[in-house]
Amino acid sequence: MNTEDLAIRNCKVTDLRAVQRIENASFDDPYTPMVFWGLYLSRDTIFRTAFVQDNIVGYSVSKVETRNGKTVAHLISLAVDPLSRRKGIGSKLLEDAISQSKNSYPECKVIELEVRTDNESAIALYLKFGFRKIRLISNYYGRGKDAQLMELS
Ligand SMILES: CC(C)(COP(=O)(O)OP(=O)(O)OC[C@H]1O[C@@H](n2cnc3c(N)ncnc32)[C@H](O)[C@@H]1OP(=O)(O)O)[C@@H](O)C(=O)NCCC(=O)NCCS
Repeated sequence: MNTEDLAIRNCKVTDLRAVQRIENASFDDPYTPMVFWGLYLSRDTIFRTAFVQDNIVGYSVSKVETRNGKTVAHLISLAVDPLSRRKGIGSKLLEDAISQSKNSYPECKVIELEVRTDNESAIALYLKFGFRKIRLISNYYGRGKDAQLMELS
């Protein structure tokens, strides 16, 4: 696969099967098809897929929320097909999620996310992009599985 041919677009309904496959291969406790369907239909969601030729190789999904008068983009999920990792696709998807949030919601100044504290590769990616560790959330992913809340302003 040549990542020079990588492109990123809004998720199409026909991408959801590949998104689910990547999700299942990436997480111990994957989101279900119903969750992805809900995200796909939601108007406040920025759901993007990365593809090379016709193959979906990763996705990102973010939701824009307003809390206490502040607009925040929440990165709900980001994953790359295990066979396509360490080729810069995760970085491209993250770059794209940030710029899509800013462009679609100019009032959005903050992007936040939760990541498992033992997910070193994802934490390294977010730190590289300037995300800061904000606080730990105990048992966020279930008993003994803590999350690190991270934020990019
Ligand atoms: C995290 C993930 C999206 C990264 O995707 P990727 O395409 O491999 O990332 P990139 O090739 O763009 O790597 C960018 C940076 O991430 C970090 N990184 C990625 N994989 C890493 C690994 N295995 N070990 C350490 N750092 C890693 C590095 O800082 C890397 O920069 P470098 O190549 O200059 O060292 C991918 O590993 C993945 O899908 N993991 C499973 C799902 C997941 O954990 N998602 C995050 C949920 S919060």
